[in-house]
Amino acid sequence: MKITIIGTGYVGLVTGACLAELGNNVFCLDVDQRKIDLLNSGGIPIHEPGLEEIVARNRAAGRIKFSTDVAASVEHGEIQFIAVGTPPDEDGSADLQYVVAAARNIGRYMNGFKVIVDKSTVPVGTADRVRAAVLEELKARNADVKFSVVSNPEFLKEGAAVEDFMRPDRIVIGCDDTPEGQQAHALMKNLYLPFNRNHERTFWMDVRSAEFTKYAANAMLATRISFMNELANLADKVGADIEAVRHGIGSDPRIGYSFLYAGCGYGGSCFPKDVQALERTARDFGQDLLILRAVEAVNNKQKHVLGTKIVERFGEDLKGKHFALWGLAFKPNTDDMREASSRVLLGELVRRGASVAVYDPVAMDEARRVLELDFADAAEALQRIRFCDSPMDALQGAEALAIVTEWKTFRSPDFDLLKQRLKAPIIFDGRNLFEPSVMAEAGIEYHGIGRSVLTTRA
Ligand SMILES: NC(=O)c1ccc[n+]([C@@H]2O[C@H](COP(=O)([O-])OP(=O)(O)OC[C@H]3O[C@@H](n4cnc5c(N)ncnc54)[C@H](O)[C@@H]3O)[C@@H](O)[C@H]2O)c1
Repeated sequence: MKITIIGTGYVGLVTGACLAELGNNVFCLDVDQRKIDLLNSGGIPIHEPGLEEIVARNRAAGRIKFSTDVAASVEHGEIQFIAVGTPPDEDGSADLQYVVAAARNIGRYMNGFKVIVDKSTVPVGTADRVRAAVLEELKARNADVKFSVVSNPEFLKEGAAVEDFMRPDRIVIGCDDTPEGQQAHALMKNLYLPFNRNHERTFWMDVRSAEFTKYAANAMLATRISFMNELANLADKVGADIEAVRHGIGSDPRIGYSFLYAGCGYGGSCFPKDVQALERTARDFGQDLLILRAVEAVNNKQKHVLGTKIVERFGEDLKGKHFALWGLAFKPNTDDMREASSRVLLGELVRRGASVAVYDPVAMDEARRVLELDFADAAEALQRIRFCDSPMDALQGAEALAIVTEWKTFRSPDFDLLKQRLKAPIIFDGRNLFEPSVMAEAGIEYHGIGRSVLTTRA
């Protein structure tokens, strides 16, 4: 099938590459000329396991191309996926300017039937806005061309995006019941056929329910994280181990183990903005989502948990103190730094006068770029952040090590070497990578999240 993907970011590039891998003929459009040039020269703008090989293979086979040519992109695909960003607006609502711009472009150039698929995460009712924008453009040029707007939200996880796209738990598609909607249904069914060979994974529904499903999923996952983080902070106070509690509750099949890890807060391009956007949608309809307001507030506070623990241990004034930081990306296997907890901790340490040696396996360049934006006096602040070549390099002479991202490579360090390098053997572990009892045996002062278990010996 001939497919156009509008927006060649995390979701667009993965969707385009995976659909090409299945034999489709894919046209990837982006407004960012540099991104398109990079892709056309064989480069890849994001770190995502397996993606580079798929893009290279399909580019060589002529099944995927990258361009900024809007007219050609509209001409190419009978199915037009909109996968542009939907960042938060100042009031927390999803900023739909890129989605609407993409829709207008389609309306401006389309000459035959199109299925316009909202793959971006968009608030309930966005399909109507997309439809209106396309109709306006058609009217402006006196054209009468049929189309249908479909919702097909994306559930892939950064860091496992290719795997998630290729082996989805579910595919959610919302179509309307007009004749065009039925035509769209048939085309979408065909497109996703290869994903449903083993068993049917597609949930067909109305457009608004499909739009809502994406927000409900992210809101639920964010809720589980904030719930555990709040309990972890209490566990620290009462002397219980949140990991033991997680096992104790996760074994209940009604609860399950996933997404119950306590830590130093969730980040990324989705949970923070989607929780906010859903709250905002509710407010527009006169409803206050009390649970989600708390989820957001707990998370914002939780991003300060390591900074607070460090201040409790070393005092308010950190001038002249030097720390090591492992992990910058908001989660492992990605270089995405959007809303990353590391930015909050770095901000806190540097503003209090400390210097920090940092290491991340893939997010160092992206970190350099975003940290420039985080500080009013970036030049001065960045002088106190040293980017290191290895985790062990970062430890040299530091008062303590803080861990923010649970990269696999941090899980079994050489603790003897770690103790030699650090000024004192102290770890602030924002992802609970280590066992407190093992740390105690190794002679390491260990500060996890919700792991200050009190043991009473007879
Ligand atoms: N990143 C994720 O893990 C993830 C997962 C599921 C859903 N989503 C949702 O998917 C959407 C895209 O997210 P992302 O992380 O891929 O964003 P991104 O910022 O990585 O990519 C968006 C791309 O769209 C391009 N763009 C903007 N306007 C355009 C236009 N008019 N025409 C063509 N290209 C245009 C930008 O230049 C950019 O390259 C968002 O709504 C997001 O919430 C993201």
